[in-house]
This record gives sequence, C-alpha cells and structure tokens, in this order.
Amino acid sequence: MGDSIVGVPGENSLDALKREFAQTLVRWPKDFGRVALIRGFPDKYLLRSPADLKHVLALRRHNYPKQTVPGADLLLGEGLLMSDEPQSSFHRALVRPAFHRDFLSECLSTMTKESMRLIDRWSALSEIDPAAEMRTFTFDVLAKTLLGLDDNKIVRELYSLVVSLTISVSRITKDLTTRPPVSLPREMERFRWQVQSLNTIVDDIVAEGVNNQDEGRNLVSLVLREWRDESRTPSKKDLRDSLVNLLWAGTSTTAVGISWMFHCLARSPDSVRLLSSSIPDKPPEDPLSFTALHSLTLLDDAFSEALRLHPPEWMLIRAAREEDVLPSGAIIPKGSTILMSPWTTQRNPDYFPSPEAFNPARFSSDQSLSIPDCAYFPWGFGSRKCIAEPFARLEAVTVLYHVLTRMDLVPPENGRTAPNEFERWPSGVLNVSLRDGRGQAA
Ligand code: HEM
Repeated sequence: MGDSIVGVPGENSLDALKREFAQTLVRWPKDFGRVALIRGFPDKYLLRSPADLKHVLALRRHNYPKQTVPGADLLLGEGLLMSDEPQSSFHRALVRPAFHRDFLSECLSTMTKESMRLIDRWSALSEIDPAAEMRTFTFDVLAKTLLGLDDNKIVRELYSLVVSLTISVSRITKDLTTRPPVSLPREMERFRWQVQSLNTIVDDIVAEGVNNQDEGRNLVSLVLREWRDESRTPSKKDLRDSLVNLLWAGTSTTAVGISWMFHCLARSPDSVRLLSSSIPDKPPEDPLSFTALHSLTLLDDAFSEALRLHPPEWMLIRAAREEDVLPSGAIIPKGSTILMSPWTTQRNPDYFPSPEAFNPARFSSDQSLSIPDCAYFPWGFGSRKCIAEPFARLEAVTVLYHVLTRMDLVPPENGRTAPNEFERWPSGVLNVSLRDGRGQAA
C-alpha cells in the first residue's frame, strides 16, 4: 500500500477531487505507491498499476459494478449507464448496429456536411472558442445521425434541454453534499419537468423509428431491423432508455476530446506539419470515403494523443462488492469505492516518455506496441468499454481532416487564453484563418 492522501473535507464531488488533487496526481507516479487510500465515507482507493486496473475493469469485473448516483434512473431509466448484467448485455446488443461500419459510413456524410458548415462559419471569424464550437457541432452530429433528426428547430430544442439538464444535475449533486440541502426540492421539481420534456421528444423519435422500420434511418428503425433475439423484443421503454443514454453519454465527451485536440495542435506547429504532410495533395475522392479517412492514421493518432493528455472521462468509478486482493497485493475491503484515473495513468513516464508533450507520433512508433493494457484507457476497458468509440473517432478525424486542409489555427499572440490543464473543458480562443491555396469551404 502506498502513502495515504487525505480526502477533501465536506465535499465529495469528482470536480472537487480533481481541483484538489490534480497537482498531487501528476506527481503520484514518483511520490506514491501503486494504490493510494483516500479516507472518507466510504474509503476510496485510487489505482495506478495497469495490472490492478485490468483486474477491476475486466478480470474481476463482477466484483466491481459501476457506481450510479441515486436518482439518476429518473433520467437514464435502465439503460447502459445504469445497468449491470444481464440488462447491460441486452442494451449493448440493442445499440451495437449503430457502431457497425455500414451505419458509420452513412453517418460520415452528415459528419462531412456539418464539418463544411463549421468551416463556412469559421471563415467569417477571426477567432473561435473550440469548446463552444464543438459543443454544438458534436450535438448536431449525434442528433442528425443516431436520432435521425433533420429539423434544426427540434435539434436546438433538444440541445437546450440537455444543457439545462446538465446544469440541474450538477446543482443537485452539489446540493446533496451541502448541509442542509436548501434548494434540493426546487431543483428536483425542475429536473423532473425537464426529464418529462426530454422524454416527450425522445418518445416521438422512437415512434418515428417504429413506424418507419423499413426505410427509416434513425437508430430505432435500424435496431428493430437488425434485432434477431426472439427471446426478448425491445419495448418502447427500452428504446427510449437507449436513446437517452447515448445522448447523455455522447453529448460532452466527444466535444471535450476534439476541442482539446484543436488546442493541442494549435500549440504544436510541428505536429500540424507532420499531419498535413500525411494528407495526399490530391484526395482520391471528394468528399473522402470511410476507407480513405481510415487510411489517415496520423490524424487518428492526434485524437488519441489529445485523449491521452485530456481524457474527457478523467475518472472511472466502481464499488467493491466483496473484499478482494489486487495483483499489486493491496487489500480492498468490501464496500469501498475504487477510483481509476486515465488522466493520471496516461501521464506515467514509464509508458509515455516526456508525458507532458503532445506528440501524436508516439502512437505510430514501435514503442506503442509495448504499452500494456490499461496504461492507456480513455475509452475504459473490457466489456463496458465505450461502445461508441468508432463513431467518436470517425467524427474527430472527419472534422480534423476538413479543418487541417483548409484552415490555420493558432493561439492568440497575447497568450491570454492558454487553457488550464486541470480543467475538463479547455477554455480560451484560437485565431483562425483560411489557408491559402486550399480552397474555400463548399
Ligand atoms: C471522445 C469521446 C468519448 C470518450 C473518451 C468516451 C469515454 C467513455 C468511457 C471511459 C466509458 C467507460 C466508463 C466506465 O467504464 O465507467 C464510456 C462508456 C460509454 N460511452 Fe463513451 N466516450 C466517448 C464518446 C461517446 C459517445 C459519442 C457516445 C454515444 C453516442 C458514448 C456512449 C457511451 C455509452 C453508452 C457508454 C456505456 C457503455 C457500457 O456501460 O457498457 N460515448 N465512454
């Protein structure tokens, strides 16, 4: 067991943990042992060794279910984010067709169209805030592909609802840690009303998918066409839960990852040169096909590297059902909370030399072959790994390709907006300009 570090008095939220411990966590590989104990109710164990992480996330996963926030089922029902076996396998099987190559190839045309719209917008501006831009870009892509929405008014309505829900959830979580929880009843009432409004919109999307199974192109019609398990037919409630869970899990994650990627690239002209030189001068087709985009591996590596330094899910949490002994020898008492931080582990110099440097090429070097399982895990690991990874990767590479081939992104000269490493969202603006000779957005 390594040295103990003391918990944040009175506050137990993850955000507080990150603020308070971020500096400590970076130094951790040198200062602490393989497992750090954070005293609290219950005690928390923060893991570092890839073997321990793999043990919890995969090999002994049945002893370490996901921890869910009480009341979250009001919003998420029994969907993937809330459920354990066997319900989670059912829900994974339900949404899996959305992440197969055939459907992703169809999503690509929406991703391309939205990227071009973005470049049109940026070409009229001198500076942009990548985080703000990516919030709406990734939401629109999700709504127009998986939910099959083509009415911009409904997309915007849904977006404001999700934003309001996010604010409500963070207020409620904060209030639950305050004594006495003063605004809780009012916040809960607002939250219930928002959930009801969200469900009304999502139920319409489900009905649309059910009624147009044969030709409909939203996730619901796709799921119903592909469903082969005769022992259980997905109900409308199952379909709603699936959509709401994807929407919730997918709304900010990709936006955080892509906006950090733009900030990192803007500060790394060498990486931009390397990436640009890997793009053929004359693309084989326009717009690029799924296969052509997949061949641009350095662009994908740039996204992987941004997720190494700035994983949108910076901490994964599990609860120990029974006492257990980790491969490192640490004893985990029954009922304790397990914390696993991609943010910390992915900055370990044993696996990532010069860990603070943004270096996409590290993923294409021979060295990357020796990175053990769970030394790099921005998507999680094992059977509950992010189901949407192929979707998010395709989206990131698509928008990066279109931006890189047409625009220059640089930090403002006055340097006033370097983003704070320890924040989940990057803050600050970048200067943008259309690149000479590479043509205007269509
Ligand atoms: C850069 C983008 C993304 C990152 C880094 C990311 C990361 C993750 C991680 C770390 C987990 C595992 C959490 C855990 O084990 O506790 C996860 C699960 C999940 N993600 Fe993502 N995610 C991303 C994008 C998305 C998108 C776009 C969607 C939906 C369209 C999505 C849907 C889900 C779902 C439904 C789960 C739960 C899977 C399960 O429990 O079986 N994610 N994601």
